[in-house]
Amino acid sequence: MIKIKNVNAGYGDLKVLFDVSLEVNEGEVVTLVGSNGAGKTTLLRVISGLIPLTSGEVLWYDKDITKIPAYKRPELGIAHIPQGRGILGTLTVKENLLMGAYTKSARPKRNERIEYVFDLFPILRERANLMAGTLSGGQQQMLAIARALMMEPKLLILDEPSLGLAPIIVEEVFEIIQNIRTEGVSILLIEQNLLQALSVADRGYVFETGQIVIKGSSKELLDNPDIKKAYLGI
Ligand SMILES: Nc1ncnc2c1ncn2[C@@H]1O[C@H](COP(=O)(O)OP(=O)(O)OP(=O)(O)O)[C@@H](O)[C@H]1O
Ligand SMILES: [Mg+2]
Repeated sequence: MIKIKNVNAGYGDLKVLFDVSLEVNEGEVVTLVGSNGAGKTTLLRVISGLIPLTSGEVLWYDKDITKIPAYKRPELGIAHIPQGRGILGTLTVKENLLMGAYTKSARPKRNERIEYVFDLFPILRERANLMAGTLSGGQQQMLAIARALMMEPKLLILDEPSLGLAPIIVEEVFEIIQNIRTEGVSILLIEQNLLQALSVADRGYVFETGQIVIKGSSKELLDNPDIKKAYLGI
């Protein structure tokens, strides 16, 4: 569904991405793993249209969307949950969710849709009228995911959803990712924790200083001796 082809991009004179190619097919959970500063978030900004490319292209269902501005991409079905979540703390949980249904196609269905996400995340129903800023970190991550689901995306992009969460909450977030995939949403999951990411993903890409250095099925990656050495310490 999405294909990134030979993308080079960066910020002004700073080159961050070097000839990056990656794809996510319908129904897949794909992970992109790399350490701090590797360029993961930058690649997501390319997909969301937030920074221009120096060269390369982004295809959505084989259509070139490289020139489509960022604000029009959610309407295509691309939902991007930014690193740090982007929750508005002084609005209620419900208001945050309703804001997620801002696309033309999602707005008329937002009341049905909110029931759907409340069923997925019962804690959000309980807290619907509280300020989002009063939620715990894990609950805020759930809210961020739920808000993105409000617009019925085809592709959900999560930028380090486990960041700053306790291990038990991280597990919960990963379970939610599993649930979402059974609803037919494809997922691109950015993570630093390779083991955890591969436990939910079908395939993965390992990213180092702006380049994809290894790719393969989750099983292939787990069996790869270089990965074992670098990421698993065995
Ligand atoms: N808005 C920006 N302006 C200038 N340089 C930036 C900007 N955002 C990121 N960079 C630089 O681009 C490089 C890649 O950053 P990026 O945020 O994509 O990495 P990352 O893999 O997401 O890291 P992390 O795991 O820490 O989130 C870094 O050298 C960073 O300093
Ligand atoms: Mg990042």
